[in-house]
Amino acid sequence: MHVLVTGGSGYIGSHTVLELLKDGHQVSVVDNLSNSSEESLRRITKMTGKKIAFHNFDLVEGDQLDKLFSNNSFDVVMHFAGFKAVGESVYKPIKYYQNNLDSTLSLCQVMSKHGVKKLIFSSSAVVYGPPDRVPITEDMLLHPTNPYGHTKAMIEQILSDIVQTNQGWEITALRYFNPIGADESDMIGEDPTGIPNNLVPYISQVAVGKLDKLKVFGNDYDTPDGTGIRDYIHVTDVAKGHVAAMHKLPRPNHMAIYNLGTGKGNSVLEVIEAFKKASGKDIPYVVAARRPGDIAEYFASVSKVKDKLNWQVEKIFFRPVKILGVGSQKILMGIANS
Ligand code: NAD
Ligand code: UFG
Repeated sequence: MHVLVTGGSGYIGSHTVLELLKDGHQVSVVDNLSNSSEESLRRITKMTGKKIAFHNFDLVEGDQLDKLFSNNSFDVVMHFAGFKAVGESVYKPIKYYQNNLDSTLSLCQVMSKHGVKKLIFSSSAVVYGPPDRVPITEDMLLHPTNPYGHTKAMIEQILSDIVQTNQGWEITALRYFNPIGADESDMIGEDPTGIPNNLVPYISQVAVGKLDKLKVFGNDYDTPDGTGIRDYIHVTDVAKGHVAAMHKLPRPNHMAIYNLGTGKGNSVLEVIEAFKKASGKDIPYVVAARRPGDIAEYFASVSKVKDKLNWQVEKIFFRPVKILGVGSQKILMGIANS
């Protein structure tokens, strides 16, 4: 199949491009490089010997997208492109609504015009907001608590309205929990610009001395050790989830929604301990105030995705892993590879 991957040079997109190539597909990527570089794709080509057609433009540029669809025959689109920082979205809501919604509308419009009706969308567990119970099942009500989460819930609504038009759309939304880690080749990984927002890249930079210490955001939550609990899933498992979803898209005029998680939660302190063990490095930390908008505990129910897509995680994080080196990337890869 010829798969168009939007946001394909980014963190999860690039790992998915790799899995798609391994699964024998042709891949084209659109990315405006607002949060990534083409280096990830160059490395994938080096690893696989397979070419990736790369197009550097903003999805909002409908004319360029239209031209791309005129010149290619895509079977499926995987839509990763978007902004993703929860905290930033609170301070810059317009930026988030504009980019995430406009890019998706532009994409769907062009897909519709060219008769490409198979779409896999990167949604997020943030759509659930504070859950009434865990594990979280896909049928639970959505009440996101920040603009980023609202964009994801709104896009799911838009996609669900699109399938109602009975024009043959087959859409799957994958709600990822907390993707972490890197491909086992050590060639690609997560490399955020500036100070990382997320726990694992932050810890990695503390481990290599780039940052002094971690701030643990709150130890007074109603959890066994008082720190927040999340469902950390290996990025390669997330990528393989996309390949599985592509092979089992819903029937025409239907939309499917699946959680992608491990089904197990770990606390911030457990993650620190696991990282220390795995890397042999100390991770100094201080307990700080709760981060606004954070939720005490959430992890996925994975029964539906196991049942319908025959997919489940292959990698488990929280056991010791070999130390691969001392550079920040290497440490990050080390913890990533179970
Ligand atoms: P990322 O920032 O590494 O990748 C997103 C890519 O999209 C980047 O390469 C960026 O340059 C590109 N992009 C952004 N806006 C664009 C536009 N208008 N036109 C073209 N390209 C554009 O992020 P990621 O972690 O790989 O996340 C991928 C998707 O998964 C996002 O939609 C994100 O919201 C979602 N998601 C991520 C997480 C996570 O923890 N990483 C969790 C749940 C959902
Ligand atoms: N945390 C700290 N210190 C830090 C960073 C995080 O203690 O410096 C804690 C948080 O309070 C939370 C846990 O580590 O308890 C995980 O926080 P992350 O920022 O790594 O992840 P979030 O669960 O807040 O959000 C992430 C992505 C979202 C995605 C969501 C899906 O940032 O884009 O997972 O579950 F949508």
